[in-house]
Amino acid sequence: MIFRQLFDATSGTYSYLMASRRGGEALIIDPVLEKVDRYLQLVTELDLKLVKAVDTHVHADHITGLGALRDRTHCITVMGENARVDVVSMRVSEGDKLTIEGLALDVLFTPGHTDDSYSFLMRDRVFTGDTLLIRGTGRTDFQNGSARAQYESLFNKLLKLPDETLVYPAHDYKGDTVSTIAEEKAFNPRLQVKSVDEYVDLMGKLNLPNPKMMDVAIPANLRVGLAQDEIANKGWALTAQQAIGLIGDRQVTLVDLRERTEREKHGLIPGSLHAPYPELQENIRPGGVLHELACSTQRRIIFYCAFGERSAMAVQAAQDAGITSACHIHGGMDAWRKANGPLLR
Ligand SMILES: [Fe+2]
Repeated sequence: MIFRQLFDATSGTYSYLMASRRGGEALIIDPVLEKVDRYLQLVTELDLKLVKAVDTHVHADHITGLGALRDRTHCITVMGENARVDVVSMRVSEGDKLTIEGLALDVLFTPGHTDDSYSFLMRDRVFTGDTLLIRGTGRTDFQNGSARAQYESLFNKLLKLPDETLVYPAHDYKGDTVSTIAEEKAFNPRLQVKSVDEYVDLMGKLNLPNPKMMDVAIPANLRVGLAQDEIANKGWALTAQQAIGLIGDRQVTLVDLRERTEREKHGLIPGSLHAPYPELQENIRPGGVLHELACSTQRRIIFYCAFGERSAMAVQAAQDAGITSACHIHGGMDAWRKANGPLLR
């Protein structure tokens, strides 16, 4: 396995790049905007293909690299289902698996630092975001934080992991890089409390100043979305309502870009084909399934995904590959569901 812990000294942020093999798919957790060039250089040096960029929560102290990485690599952006970010490509919730080739991370909902904080467990290690830090815990006094919720996330979820589990946090300001669950149980001063009330009391007395970047970072981090309007302005978008009207039309083919697990969990549009986003390039190039389908049958290709982001990128790529009929459903399955479009489960 390839595993790299990367550091942004300005914000004290750790980002994690991982892949199962050289030449394979890679995933990055908590990337920082200013470091995007560095990540992409490393991705190239290690001959990796970045396919997913994940944030553990909406950060208040740095601007996320999610949008820039998506724009430069066309990777899938991922956050928890309750993050109030405008658009990410994929949203995950407790119990889901976040997968790339050869690796699977278990998704743990660990609110408290913020109400959208998630942790990700991969084999012998857990990425704890700002929920559990080394000898500390993330503050709970803004972004709908809750010391009570954080106590639950810590004591009833993270600390229940095996003692030897490695703890990789999103931040450290003292120079520590990694810990273990056993070490934190024994030596983390915030965890030496006897009750939830004692923890709430402790967190309530911290009186921390706001992060320097907060006023810039939070608004920026809430707007990660790809400008789907650009695709719409080019005439390549359908509203969910328009797409509903095309169900059963033999002149169109609906193409679902989501992963199998998303289809199983959220349902799919009846009669649609499944062509996962990671395989898009093979499918749209001359000779590829979608290219042949569009050219030989003159059918209009209508892409869709969870929120319209993957499909917007797919439309642009398909148009670039000569599939001039390609368009997508603006807002994806989320808009489809809100418009009461039929679902197959
Ligand atoms: Fe944070």
